[in-house]
Order: sequence, then C-alpha cells, then structure tokens
Amino acid sequence: MTSLMHFFTTIFLVLIPINAITHHHHFGLKSLHFTLYQHETINKTGYIVVNGVAGPPVSQTTTPFGTLFVFQDPLTLKPKHTSKRVGTAQGTSITSGLDGLQSISIAKITLDVKKHKGSISIVGVTNNIKPSNHPVVGGTDDFLFVQGYVTSSPVNLVGLTVTYKIEFHLYWPLYASSKP
Ligand SMILES: *[C@@H]1O[C@H](CO)[C@@H](O)[C@H](O)[C@H]1NC(C)=O
Repeated sequence: MTSLMHFFTTIFLVLIPINAITHHHHFGLKSLHFTLYQHETINKTGYIVVNGVAGPPVSQTTTPFGTLFVFQDPLTLKPKHTSKRVGTAQGTSITSGLDGLQSISIAKITLDVKKHKGSISIVGVTNNIKPSNHPVVGGTDDFLFVQGYVTSSPVNLVGLTVTYKIEFHLYWPLYASSKP
C-alpha cells in the first residue's frame, strides 16, 4: 500500500511539471507573463488638463501636487516606438505626492497579445523615476477575472516622447475557466 502510494506520488510529481511548462498552467492555474513598452508624447498622447497647486513645477520628472493628467498611449512589443503596436493604455493620473514625483494612476490597458484579446484595469501609485507595481483589479473578454500586477519602469524620460517598460504578471483564478 505504502509503496503503491509512493509510486503514484512519484508519477504525479513527474507529470505535473511537464504539464505546467507546456500549457502555462501551474497546478491548474493559468498565468501569462510578458513585457511591453508604453510611449507617451506630451501634448499628443498625454495632456495636463488641470494644473496642480503646490510643490515642484512641471519638469521632465515632476508635476505640481494636484496635477490632473490624461493619456491614451500606444503599447509596443519592443522599446522602439515604431515597433509593432499590440495595445493601448488609456487613463488618468493625479499627482498625489508633495514631492511631485508620485501620482495615483488609473488605467485601462487594451491588449492583443499571445492569442489573448481584451483589456485589464490597473490602479496604484506611479513613481516617475522608480519602478512601480500596480495591482490588476480586473479584466474583460479573454482577460475576464484576471488578477496579478503590472510593473511600470521608466526607460527613457528625455525628449518629447517618454518610454516606460510595462511588465505584466497575470494569473487566472480557478473560477475563470467556467466563464460564460
Ligand atoms: C503643452 O501644451 C501646454 C499648453 O498649451 C504648454 O504650456 C506646454 O508648454 C506644452 N508642452 C510641450 C512640451 O510642448
């Protein structure tokens, strides 16, 4: 009996990791990890719509406290803005740090990647000069019920178009597989 159980445990341990690699499933949980690049051009894809009231002035990295910024930025596969476009990030950020470096950000990210189409929504505080993690609060279509987080890091802040690296870590809960 014990040796039979050991036999099945061994088979289980040998088979499951193979399944995890080939189907991007980890013990039945589906996940997806990829990196895209967000390009933001001042007064073209992103605008200050309400001026802030305190703190540092508008610069390459700072905006006054209370600044309301709205954007609709392209997302590409590679760092170059001319590389293949596979998504859009639309949202708003409000400078919420008195240092002028941090802002509360809300965004809907529309994606067409790795045979998955739909959108995810994120919320969190973005730091203009450091990597920031934003929890995924939900999704639509192929991303329905998705959880996880997105890490946004500045890549190039010089010039009219600034670029951010966006790393996606998406996980589908078990109940997502029974979607209508
Ligand atoms: C963007 O537009 C605003 C308002 O017209 C202007 O004050 C600002 O200088 C512009 N910024 C750049 C970088 O062109």
